[in-house]
Amino acid sequence: MIRIVSPLHMQSHALEMRRQGLKVGFVPTMGALHQGHMSLVKIARKLCDTVVVSVFVNPIQFGPKEDYSSYPRNQEGDMAICEAEGVDVFFAPTADEMYPRDYSVHVVEDRMSMGLCGAFRPGHFRGVLTVVAKLFNIVQPHVAVFGQKDAQQARLVKRMARDLNFPIEIAVAPTCREADGLAMSSRNAYLSEAERRVAPGLYAALKRVEEAFRRGERSAAILRKVALENLAEVREFRVEYLEIVDDETLESVETVSRPALVAAAVYLGRTRLIDNIVLEP
Ligand code: PAJ
Repeated sequence: MIRIVSPLHMQSHALEMRRQGLKVGFVPTMGALHQGHMSLVKIARKLCDTVVVSVFVNPIQFGPKEDYSSYPRNQEGDMAICEAEGVDVFFAPTADEMYPRDYSVHVVEDRMSMGLCGAFRPGHFRGVLTVVAKLFNIVQPHVAVFGQKDAQQARLVKRMARDLNFPIEIAVAPTCREADGLAMSSRNAYLSEAERRVAPGLYAALKRVEEAFRRGERSAAILRKVALENLAEVREFRVEYLEIVDDETLESVETVSRPALVAAAVYLGRTRLIDNIVLEP
């Protein structure tokens, strides 16, 4: 595995790999890597000849009151995990090189980014799409893998690739969970022991929705009520949103007659957890 810091060096290395006829797979991350990230690497490995993982805590996707400065950073550990997983290139640029002081160009999506997390994190997806577009241009991948865990992000990246003509296949990987159902996340490290014990209640509530759906319930309002009642059973949760939307357009639905995304964000103390499931009629 080689480690590259400079975007220019990464780009010339990527162009060289392409010249050699290698199919390049890419997994962008913010580090503090866990098995969820590695499941994306495994998919990239299957689909491609060579795999690039980027680790960059992207300042412009954090709000002023969010956790940019406290976000977990552990480059040594991340490199060891990538090395063990057979990653070929570990790309870890600095914020100064990614964003020179007079940086002024951004990617804005103005439809699917308005709801769900976008409604509560203004500017978040502008920051995400901007850095992903930059990373795509630097790494020049044939395939990029994103997690279903961040469903809105994955849909938005797909939309950006389509609308801005990036010649890149976007693959979406299923959510990796702990044994008790909690979706793996770098931010789980923030949870106290007591919070960690109740955290699986988020996925448990989504599973109750799925059960009601399997029993034939198709009304989004009723399914939403099932979720909210179950979330309310965990006193420690402060629900930010729980929405049922069309899985493709992310527009809200009244009746589930096409695949629908049930997506939620809750606060547990100061930690924000997100999770989702897809209902397939
Ligand atoms: P990060 O939160 O580090 O996640 C990197 C990738 O790993 C994302 O595609 C995310 O959906 C995926 N992922 C996280 N937890 C997962 C899990 N439990 N199972 C499966 N996949 C999981 O998402 C970002 O970073 C950033 O926004 C980024 C795209 C890198 C842009 O800065």
